[in-house]
Amino acid sequence: MSHDTDAELEARLAEQERFSPPESFVAQANVTDEGIYEEFEENWPECWEQAAALLDWDEPYDTVLDDSNPPFFEWFTGGSLNASANCLDRHLDERGDEAAIEWIGEPTEEENRTYTYRELHREVNEFAAALKDLGVAEDDVVTLYMPMIPELPIAMLACARIGAPHSVVFAGFSADALATRMNAADSEFLVTCDGYYRRGDPLEHKEKADEGLSGVEHDVETVVVDRLDDDYDHPMEANHHDYDDLVEAQAGMTVDPVSRDAEDMLFLMYTSGTTGQPKGVKHTTGGYLSWASWTGQAVLDIKPEDTYFCAADIGWITGHSYIVYGPLALGTTTMMYEGTPDYPEKDRLWEIVEEYEANQLYTAPTAIRAFMKWGSQYPESHDLSSLRLLGTVGEPINPRAWKWYYKYIGGEECPIVDTWWQTETGGMMITTLPGVSEMSPGSAGPPLPGLDVRIVDNDGEQVKPGRAGYLTVNKPWPGMLRTLYRNDERYIDEYWRTYSDVDSDDPDDWVYFPEDGAKISEDGYITVLGRVDDVINVSGHRLGTMEIESAIVGVEGVAEAAVVGGHHDVKGEAVYAYVITEDGYEGDDAMAERIIEGVNSAIGPIARPEQVVFTPELPKTRSGKIMRRLLEDIANGDELGNTSTLRNPEIVSEIAAKVKND
Ligand code: PRX
Repeated sequence: MSHDTDAELEARLAEQERFSPPESFVAQANVTDEGIYEEFEENWPECWEQAAALLDWDEPYDTVLDDSNPPFFEWFTGGSLNASANCLDRHLDERGDEAAIEWIGEPTEEENRTYTYRELHREVNEFAAALKDLGVAEDDVVTLYMPMIPELPIAMLACARIGAPHSVVFAGFSADALATRMNAADSEFLVTCDGYYRRGDPLEHKEKADEGLSGVEHDVETVVVDRLDDDYDHPMEANHHDYDDLVEAQAGMTVDPVSRDAEDMLFLMYTSGTTGQPKGVKHTTGGYLSWASWTGQAVLDIKPEDTYFCAADIGWITGHSYIVYGPLALGTTTMMYEGTPDYPEKDRLWEIVEEYEANQLYTAPTAIRAFMKWGSQYPESHDLSSLRLLGTVGEPINPRAWKWYYKYIGGEECPIVDTWWQTETGGMMITTLPGVSEMSPGSAGPPLPGLDVRIVDNDGEQVKPGRAGYLTVNKPWPGMLRTLYRNDERYIDEYWRTYSDVDSDDPDDWVYFPEDGAKISEDGYITVLGRVDDVINVSGHRLGTMEIESAIVGVEGVAEAAVVGGHHDVKGEAVYAYVITEDGYEGDDAMAERIIEGVNSAIGPIARPEQVVFTPELPKTRSGKIMRRLLEDIANGDELGNTSTLRNPEIVSEIAAKVKND
């Protein structure tokens, strides 16, 4: 690797707008035929049989796509399969003794664990037997509230084995968030843990889970993984069960994988939307698993002999699709890292890549911007030559960060896939194919083959290249969500109503709206501009402004609050809260602290406001609507937009004077 300074790198790469995939990569890539785009278009929807063919089916499907009742599209109908059998059993003969999961724990290397496919299969079976013993029946929703410990994917696969959908709640979410999700899903089973390590120190988790349980309206059986051993004593109640005891009691037990209909729910995942109530996104067994597998092999170039590293958290969709289901269905070795990238040193990730000889690295632009800020000396002190492909997900990546990633992590020899997708899409949608397409830093690329993605105006008409518009998906795809759990009406309202003729039975009249803005180049490369709804994206994590606002108005002394996203160099966006206090309350530091604490306990630390700005009024139109655009301008330190339609224009400069723009 040459030793350009950042300035030299910038100068050398700044001009370059397109990058060809490295020849060494193309020579071995899973997908190299550029004819695939045409082939899929001509052969749609049967092209997706290629995805289904990556799986083992108990019963073959008879229809690829049933679009008779839009927007309730069904894929591979008539077929049946089991996701856990596809991720485990079918690999035992050939790869039973190969590593399925390499787990890198904290705080010392002694913690690390390797699970071969055989070992993982054994423990998944034992835990599946334990869940059945606890009374979990097919279709019962089991909530999993755990950090990055192996028992999380084990519990997911155990649920899948017995046909019980899981609902994973990110461990960084608060007790309240856990309770909301368990109540919404009527989930009577919880698997959690006593705690975990962060930066070398034990951090309790069970108290948070217990507090959440106190807000659940029905009885719950709880399984507790003892992650911290003697570092933390956790009280167990009558309906609390120790994970190790349960698994030990089932030693050597096997459970036949339940044959699930292709359209049966594999899992639920709650995600933020425009209103305060999180949306329960429903994913299915056949369509989702084939999508995670097909995109895993076509885009991440996963091969069974790879050691593949996705540095996301399983608590989000990226971890579901690309740490657990996709990689394991493809029979590869998937890595899980419990810790943070800067502990004990800022080279921790590069140390791991070197030690495990990782072949792919899939992470978020937020992380890349942090690495860039820390400096190239950290990756340069490690041998990263095992890497073959790099990926990013979760938010737009700025060309400068892209080029830094390309040069310092990939050594200019790895293609980068900038993958646009969502919790709802199940897997990747817009990205270059690494062995086929040129890359364009800052632009995710063309839609995957077989997808019809357009950029449209308010009326649904396609906009000219280069112009900003709204992203739409005009044909269904196998990995799509099927509905919002128990709320078909909201499913239609949230994703379809904007651009569809909702009274039509013709599937072509139904257009999916992901609520992102985007533009397209002459040659079809899409640059995603970000959310156009009231959702902000902090470090690649999706947060609803309404959820945060309702947490803030729940704090004593708060009369009204408005939350917007403001630009942040590392996190992409940060939360800015504008707050009006009730009479008799002072908008002082102590109040700001209480507000931050209120957000912490209602949602979790990821939603903490960067700044709390107290104001006597919020900028409102004459009809009483808060002008969020102006609040965003203030947060960004931008020139303030038009204030002439405001009822109270004088308040704008008063608020702006209080905001610290660095
Ligand atoms: O705004 C888009 C942004 O993340 C949103 C989806 O968030 P979530 O459901 O939490 O899933 C994140 C992981 C798939 C999208 O609506 N987003 C995701 N990937 C990209 C992106 N924005 C720009 N470029 C991307 N590659």
